[in-house]
Amino acid sequence: MQPKEVAGRRAAEWVEDGMTLGLGTGSTVFFTLVAIAERIRDHGLRVRGVPTSLDTEHKARGMGIPLATLDQVTQLDLTIDGADEIDGAFQMIKGGGGALLREKVVAAISRREVIVVGPDKVVARLGTTFALPVEVVPFARPVVERALSRLGCEPAVRRTRDGSEYRTDNGNQILDCRFPAGIADARALERQIDAIPGVVESGLFIDLAHTLVIGQPDGRAEVRER
Ligand code: 5RP
Repeated sequence: MQPKEVAGRRAAEWVEDGMTLGLGTGSTVFFTLVAIAERIRDHGLRVRGVPTSLDTEHKARGMGIPLATLDQVTQLDLTIDGADEIDGAFQMIKGGGGALLREKVVAAISRREVIVVGPDKVVARLGTTFALPVEVVPFARPVVERALSRLGCEPAVRRTRDGSEYRTDNGNQILDCRFPAGIADARALERQIDAIPGVVESGLFIDLAHTLVIGQPDGRAEVRER
């Protein structure tokens, strides 16, 4: 089993009958969805999930996982999601798949946020292996781009494979911000980015993760609690 599958499946073991779940986005969480769907099919597990992207909504629906909207739930028992980078304090960069806004909304109402990754996502300092995604309103994009540059990064408009501008599920654009020396103070940076008019959300996830599952190449799942 690959690290992503090890981590994704291990986290699904915390899903209990009757839970309302947050369903994260990405190739690691995909294995969580598969494991949950297996338990629904084989053991009659009763759960419902709020998807963090149209992609996850599509996959979960196809696998027979019952879905709910934020009109129907006030709190989530457990959310399982991936990350692009996570440091020793469980601060994260997310949004590689463009789902950062919905992922953060869902994380904020989750009693427990479990992050599933392979070992390559664990870093000493955020911003050293991955550019920070920032979701912006298209009208404001040039203004936000200049303001982000003044914060010390090199923003680049995210594009699709065919070269056109990428749009999120919310109709916005993403600026992928490379910090040449990494991010020194993620908490302060999140506040600075959020203060720029036209920014919808940044991919910095501060104090939102409770549990980290790292799938290892030898098939072990390493579990760390914050
Ligand atoms: C999507 C995300 C994903 O959780 C993150 O990109 C990790 O994805 P993967 O498990 O495919 O590496 O933040 O916006």
